[in-house]
Formats: sequence, structure tokens, C-alpha cells
Amino acid sequence: MQTNTATLNLLLLFVGLSLNAASVNAEESKAEKGKAVFAQCAGCHMVGPDAEHRFGPTLNGITGKPIASAEGYDYSEVFKTAASDGMAWSVETLDDFLKAPMEYLPGTKMAYPGLADESARANVISYLATFDAEVLIAESKVEESNVAEPAVKEKAPVILAKDVEVPTHGVLHLGRAAHVEEISAWDIDIRPDGTGLPEGGGLATDGAEIYDAQCASCHGVFGEGEGRWPILAGGFDTLTDDRPEKTIGSYWPYLSTVYDYVRRAMPFGNARSLSDDDVYALTAYLLYLNDLVDEDFELTSANFASIKLPNEDNFISDSRIEEPTFVSEGEPCMTDCIAGLAQVVQRARVLDVTPDTEDDEAGAGLD
Ligand code: HEC
Ligand code: HEC
Repeated sequence: MQTNTATLNLLLLFVGLSLNAASVNAEESKAEKGKAVFAQCAGCHMVGPDAEHRFGPTLNGITGKPIASAEGYDYSEVFKTAASDGMAWSVETLDDFLKAPMEYLPGTKMAYPGLADESARANVISYLATFDAEVLIAESKVEESNVAEPAVKEKAPVILAKDVEVPTHGVLHLGRAAHVEEISAWDIDIRPDGTGLPEGGGLATDGAEIYDAQCASCHGVFGEGEGRWPILAGGFDTLTDDRPEKTIGSYWPYLSTVYDYVRRAMPFGNARSLSDDDVYALTAYLLYLNDLVDEDFELTSANFASIKLPNEDNFISDSRIEEPTFVSEGEPCMTDCIAGLAQVVQRARVLDVTPDTEDDEAGAGLD
């Protein structure tokens, strides 16, 4: 009987342990899946020990934390109001917020449509829970205190002017010539004829996956633009309208600009994070979104220069000297060019960039 109870207890203990282990594993795999979901957030948010604010605040230790409490981040009014009402983030409020941020807190700066999928939300919340603000602070304190102070501070050697070798190059004899590597790190421009393109290529279908994960939250699933983020596709035949929709397809003259721009500046907040082949794939997909190539199109360094954008011919090369008005005017006037007082003859009314003032009408007298 004794032994039986003991065995039973042991058994129960064992079941309990393995249940525990199973739920820990489940939580780990949720967090693992959430990491993939977080790719959609990473353009705006950072997590981890080196996290900094991007377009959105850092999210370390977000669960359980009061809303709008990341130091040094300028939240929207609605976030600030929620903070003064004492709102805090729990698994539940995070879930409600992430389902439709702009509906949950209308006026939020988080221009992100939300995660409709319940398990995607649960996973990303689990992933965020792995970044604990307290632990991170504690760890960094430990690291700091481990750095031993040098017993005697070394004095910086005094350099006398007479011992400094004066550079002989250049006009000012200052600095040194830039290293080849330093120049090449900046020298990433791509010209319309393809000069500057890296070797490689990418499929539009691969670009679609990267786009959905890293671009669609701002630029829309079809390039139609979420909220006020830029539109990347369509707008054909609108260039002569009052408000033309200038997209890659309708307006941009050269494909090289797309490659160069995306590689240099996107995704917004996480620039230079894409590989060269990712950029090829995305450029191919942006062509597809503009109905300029088929879904299975592959863009490579070899076929790049052969792709023409529809509006290229409406751009003229402007060598200025040969430009007709310049030629007829001869030397430009630089002093006393207008007889009498200068007058305002036009206002940027359509763009509405001229600020309104009380005596607007009277002042301008042109409407
Ligand atoms: C387009 C950029 C953008 C994307 C994408 C985005 N966020 Fe945000 N997020 C923001 C901004 C901006 C704020 C600050 C909101 C405000 O002040 O109105 C914010 C706020 C938050 C907050 C509240 C932070 C706090 O300190 O109270 C959480 C939580 C959050 N985002 C989670 C996410 C998650 C998870 C994702 C991905 C599923 C995501 N965000 C995607 C821009 C973004
Ligand atoms: C957090 C929001 C955000 C994300 C995510 C994002 N972008 Fe952008 N994108 C912008 C903003 C803002 C601009 C305009 C920047 C400017 O004008 O200075 C822009 C501009 C662009 C433009 C130029 C549009 C034009 O007509 O001027 C292209 C092309 C582009 N993005 C592609 C991408 C691609 C590809 C990705 C994914 C790898 C991406 N973007 C991810 C916000 C975003």
C-alpha cells in the first residue's frame, strides 16, 4: 500500500512535470512563430538589448507596461490620453489593439491595418513577452559593473605640432585620401543604363512574399498605399489630371530608380536590410503589381536594362545649354532683372501650400 501510494505520487508528479514541459514547449513554439509575424512590425519597431525607437517605440517588456511609457518617444495624443487614463498593456488589450489598431485607438500614429488572424496575434504577443524590460536593464547593469576600472588611468600622449606630419595632398593639405572601401560603401547608385547594378536576380513570386511581410503594411497589398503612405502601383492615364497619381508604373522614367531607392531607403525605418537579390525580387514584383510583367517574371542583372517603364519617353534630357528657352534668353540676368516692384502673380491654390491668414484675401488680392 505504502509503495503504491508512493508510485502513484511519483506518477502524478511525473505527469505534472511533463505537462509543464509541454506547455513551456508550446509557448516557445508560439514565440518562434511570432518572430516571423514580427517581420511585419520590424519596419517600425525594434526589440532586444540594442533596441532604439524607430517610427514606432521600442517594445521591450510591453506586456504589463503602462501604455505610452517608452522613454524618449513622442506618442500621439490618443496614446497620451490613454496613458493619463491609466491604461496598461495586457495580453487582452494587446490582442484587441493589434486586431485593428486604428479602430481600437482612432488617431494613433501606428498606420498599420492590424492582424486579422487570431493565432498570428497570439504568437506575436508571445514573442514580445520574451523581451523583458527589467531583465534587460538588470543584465546591462551587471555588464557595466563587470568592466573593471583600470588601476592607473593612462594619460593621452601629448603630440607637439612640430611632430605632426602635414599632409601634402589636396588644396588645403587636410585629412587623408578616402579608402577604396570607404568610397564603395557610399557608391551604390544605379544609373538608367544599369551601371552600378550588383550581379544577381530575383523572381517576382519571391518578391511577393517579402513584399507582403515587409512592405504591404504601409504600401498596401496591391501597392495601393495604406492610409497616407505612398502608392506604388496604378495611376495610369492620370498624369494630365488635376491630381495625377504618380506611381512607378504611371510616372517613373527608369527602373533603375526603383532598385536604387528600395535598396537604399526601404523598408522605411530599416533601410539597407535587404539583400541585393531580395531587391531584385521586390523590383520584379513591383513591375508585376503595375501589370508590366507576368507573375513568374525573373529580373536579373542581365535583363534589367531591357525593361522600359511606360513613361520614359515623356522625360527629356535637360542639358540646359541647348534647352530652347535658355538659348533664346542668352546670358541669365542676375541683377535688377525686374523693372519696378516684384508682384505675386500666382498662388499655389491647388496644392494649398500658401498658408491661410486672417486677411488672406485682402493681402493677396488675387483670388
Ligand atoms: C507603420 C509602422 C508600424 C507598424 C508596421 C507597426 N507599428 Fe506598432 N506602433 C507604431 C507607432 C507609430 C506607434 C506609436 C503609436 C502612437 O503614438 O499613436 C506604435 C505603437 C505600438 C504599441 C504600443 C507601444 C506603447 O509603448 O504603448 C504596440 C504594442 C505596438 N505598436 C505593436 C506592434 C506590433 C506587434 C506590430 C506588428 C504586428 C506593429 N506594432 C506594427 C508603428 C507601427
Ligand atoms: C513603415 C512604412 C513603410 C514600409 C514598411 C515600407 N515603406 Fe516604402 N515608403 C514609405 C515612405 C514614408 C515613403 C516615402 C519616403 C519619402 O518620400 O521620403 C516610401 C517610399 C517608397 C517608394 C517610393 C515611392 C514614391 O513614389 O516616391 C518605394 C518604391 C517604396 N517605398 C518601396 C518599398 C518597399 C519595396 C518596401 C518593403 C521592402 C517598403 N517600401 C516598405 C514607408 C514605408
